[in-house]
Amino acid sequence: MNLDLSDLMRDPRLLPPEKRSLLSGIADRSAALGFPCYLVGGFVRDLLLRRPVNDLDIIVEGDAIQLGRMLLKEFGGTLTPYAPFYTAIWQPPASDETIDLITARSESYSAPGALPTVRPSSIEDDLRRRDFTINALAVRADGEHLGEVLDPLHGRDDLQRGIIRALHPRSFIDDPTRILRAIRYEGRYGFQIESGTLNWIDAESLTVLSTLSGERLRHELDLILAEENAASMLARADEVGVLKAIHPSLPRFDSNRANWLDEIPNPALNISCDRETLGYLLWLLDVPAEDLATLSRRLDFTSELSEALLGASRLNAKLPALANSLPSAWTFALEMFPLLSVYAMCLVAREPALLEYLPTWRHIKPHTNGDTLLALGLPPGPQYKEILTHLRAAWLDGEVSNEDEEKKLLESLLNNTEG
Ligand code: CTP
Repeated sequence: MNLDLSDLMRDPRLLPPEKRSLLSGIADRSAALGFPCYLVGGFVRDLLLRRPVNDLDIIVEGDAIQLGRMLLKEFGGTLTPYAPFYTAIWQPPASDETIDLITARSESYSAPGALPTVRPSSIEDDLRRRDFTINALAVRADGEHLGEVLDPLHGRDDLQRGIIRALHPRSFIDDPTRILRAIRYEGRYGFQIESGTLNWIDAESLTVLSTLSGERLRHELDLILAEENAASMLARADEVGVLKAIHPSLPRFDSNRANWLDEIPNPALNISCDRETLGYLLWLLDVPAEDLATLSRRLDFTSELSEALLGASRLNAKLPALANSLPSAWTFALEMFPLLSVYAMCLVAREPALLEYLPTWRHIKPHTNGDTLLALGLPPGPQYKEILTHLRAAWLDGEVSNEDEEKKLLESLLNNTEG
């Protein structure tokens, strides 16, 4: 029996009305050109799982770039064609979203892990080039065909059984990023990687994985860290040998830290840190400093992230020496580290001083500044810094608590300087 998804596609909880009308605009133009138009991959998978759909990945049996040009002419926006893959990215006017317009194609891989060579083909061939059966479903979007499902690889059965199944034994060798994708889907949906597919994560495919560029690997790890179950996905990645294949010093994610993945800094702290960055910090801050440099290079980390990791590792080593110090000693020491490092250590070490430093101590400054000292006739020189530091320490350590007390302390410091 043919499955019809048109009702689900009309459900505003799954497909918001503005996306639906965008989709019918595209499907109508595609039909006018005589190109059957389909949605594939995550769209169908998530619709069948009754989850809201995100991306509109459009496939046409016809020239996707020609369709893109028509959409551009009729609706405006911007079009970025990519002729070697017969694809285009269309950004509708006044929209942040982009839509992939893809010509149905078949693919062959010239070398393991290389980008594929493609040629236009049928929708069925296009589904056969994909990663997993649950992503190899298509639903038609044009005219009277709206809602018709194509499921040549029985992805719907696997969705119902909760199974991640690759399409052929060389799938992970052709494209080892799929190993990380399998782990991501498994953890996201609570599915299981099918046993044959699990066996294809072997020495050969892991070796190809180890040759991928840092950028491609980090992109996949970013996607994992953005997921709710990131910690268990990374545990699974470790279990199947993926982490060591990427880099020998990539550790298991400490499951005790899983809850902190959601602790994005409160905006009032003014520390810019997204979930992925926080994820890398929580995951890697125990890696010894000498390994962090090679790891950062391997995964093509930004300099901000690699410095934050290095800072966290050094701060971790320094914490015992700072225990029981005065607030001023803590503050002056912590100011030498990136804020991100302090924030990550604050979550992990739960050291009360770090909890005080981030929202409070680091902002405490005396009323006196360089201009005040100049107005008092003190000749500029190194003693400016000494005096201001002394005043700041007095505030931090509670030796002064109002402007009058600060003035008195300043006077005594100036007397000493003169003396
Ligand atoms: N795909 C693939 N092999 C890859 C990457 C993608 O076969 N290495 C195919 C899959 O059919 C996938 C589709 O391209 O469904 C779109 O890829 P992507 O947008 O990355 O995935 P989604 O299915 O949208 O899933 P997610 O929710 O993770 O974004």
